[in-house]
Amino acid sequence: MVIKLMNDPDSKDGFSVSRRAFLKSFGTTAAIAATAQVEAVAQELAKAGAAQTYGPAAVPITLNVNGKPLHLQVEPRVTLLDALRNYSNLTGSKEVCDRATCGACTVMLDGLPIYSCSKLAIEAQGHEITTVEGLAQDGRLSPVQQAFIRQDALMCGYCTPGFVMSVTALLRKNPRPTAEEIKHHCSGNLCRCGTYPRIMKAAFHAAGLPVTNTTEVIPYAKLA
Ligand code: FES
Ligand code: FES
Repeated sequence: MVIKLMNDPDSKDGFSVSRRAFLKSFGTTAAIAATAQVEAVAQELAKAGAAQTYGPAAVPITLNVNGKPLHLQVEPRVTLLDALRNYSNLTGSKEVCDRATCGACTVMLDGLPIYSCSKLAIEAQGHEITTVEGLAQDGRLSPVQQAFIRQDALMCGYCTPGFVMSVTALLRKNPRPTAEEIKHHCSGNLCRCGTYPRIMKAAFHAAGLPVTNTTEVIPYAKLA
């Protein structure tokens, strides 16, 4: 059907539309669309307003840590790392840089390694959190933890829980990684003591890869 626009305000046939009628109808449609947009924006603002009702004072939260519920009262600004270390007795995750740089605070969230210093505790609700305390089963250290001990892969040990969590997360997803994959996966973890050769050996050991001496490790006896 062809719609003709006419200057005459009164259309004489049943098919043509006058310019005035067209503009009136177009204006009505535009007004309805604009109203819908305003309502959508209002709904988004309402949602944002609802989110702001948390805090600033402490609010009750429940975290699922190592398979158990952990009930806490924390301000919404508290990070997952601080909630674990300062509001419970789970001090295995370490705070070093507190700015997503070193990996000492690494925990698993639904199986993925994350920096717990960069995640709000309130946001971690509803997720499965695993800390280094949750790796041992029936009083027996996990294979990754045992490999770190066997390879003497620590000095001060402050970075160790983070490395253990990163290696554990990798091996759960990929039980036979290559050496390059292990190095890549641990690239977000830093060791200030420079224990990398032994950390890598421990990771290779835990993955069942051959542990070689391609990277020189100076025996303590040679330093004495
Ligand atoms: S303390 Fe979280 S990355 Fe350093
Ligand atoms: S062993 Fe000291 S920071 Fe890694």
